[in-house]
Amino acid sequence: VHHHLEESIRPYIDLIDTLRSVGIQKDLALPTIVVIGDQSSGKSSVLEALSGIALPRGSGIVTRCPLELRLRNVTGGVSWKAKIIEFGDPSLVEKHVEEAQNELAGKGVKICDDLITLEVRSADVCDLTLIDLPGIARVPVQGQPQDIGNQIKRLIMKFIEKQETINMVVVPCNTDIATTEALRMAQEVDPEGIRTLAILTKPDLIDRGTEKNILAVVQNKVIPLRKGYVMVKCRGQQQIDEKIPLVEATQIERDFFQNHDFFRPLLDENKATVKCLAIKLTQDLVSHIKKSLPKLDEQIKKQLWDVRNELKECEAGPPQDLKGAKQFLIKILTKFNDKIKSLSFGELIIKDN
Ligand code: GDP
Ligand code: NA
Ligand code: MG
Repeated sequence: VHHHLEESIRPYIDLIDTLRSVGIQKDLALPTIVVIGDQSSGKSSVLEALSGIALPRGSGIVTRCPLELRLRNVTGGVSWKAKIIEFGDPSLVEKHVEEAQNELAGKGVKICDDLITLEVRSADVCDLTLIDLPGIARVPVQGQPQDIGNQIKRLIMKFIEKQETINMVVVPCNTDIATTEALRMAQEVDPEGIRTLAILTKPDLIDRGTEKNILAVVQNKVIPLRKGYVMVKCRGQQQIDEKIPLVEATQIERDFFQNHDFFRPLLDENKATVKCLAIKLTQDLVSHIKKSLPKLDEQIKKQLWDVRNELKECEAGPPQDLKGAKQFLIKILTKFNDKIKSLSFGELIIKDN
């Protein structure tokens, strides 16, 4: 069943990625999955568990630039490709992403709007494209501007307000879920909840006695979301320090739910584990892309029409007199130059030293 699912979705996701790689997202809003939440809520951990690659994560502000993570399911060799560099060693991801962040946002604690793209080709991942974002900070730390919270919210807004995104809101179980700022923002841009999915993290850290309340949340009885909730247990700091492999973490997660007095039923309800989340996300993305295709088609036709009109202007060729010919060529070259600039601006960043 899983194999069949992958076979049927790859063409859609490849199409979108091809369009995105030629810079078309500047003109067209393309469907994608965005991860938002408070700082240290577990966003990067969820992405890490979905992708199987070690991303920079930890306490404090670690993710400082939007990171586009393209997961490609391929059989055979594994390769890790960023736009400019290609490397075969998964353990270098953190280093390269950090370097790219330093280059874009400067060393330290500042954030930046420029996108870093990371493509992972492996037999162990599912076909997904996700964007990791800096977490919402409440209080600026030394070296951050006073309005860092608003800067981050503005950056998040830029991604989640697009009708074509699926917004994955990451909320730790051990916080007051109802007052989560990221959930509020997602509800603001998507009042119907058509493209909002909530991920509850850190179920192993909840206060005793709150299990029933949290179970009710996951079962969509408290803050109803159309796409509902999934609960996941990722590696805690100690398990990261002990270098527990992700495969083992998956088994630990399963055991955790199977042995849990309150959360065990979530397994049968398809509301728990990273694996269940991956399947849900993939299905969501495909149905989203299918819905967007007619609109993309329309926009592409309009652009083609505009370009054809521009070409018609050129057909007559330059005027016969030298001055007129010069002006004609300068106009065309300037236009071309602007186009190239706008396509390549902010594209990539990671350099191999
Ligand atoms: P982000 O800032 O939202 O990207 O959060 P991170 O993914 O960097 O995680 C912050 C901290 O929470 C890290 O130390 C993680 O190990 C820890 N963490 C994430 N998920 C879980 C979980 O399910 N259980 C436990 N115990 N710790 C977690
Ligand atoms: Na963090
Ligand atoms: Mg992070």
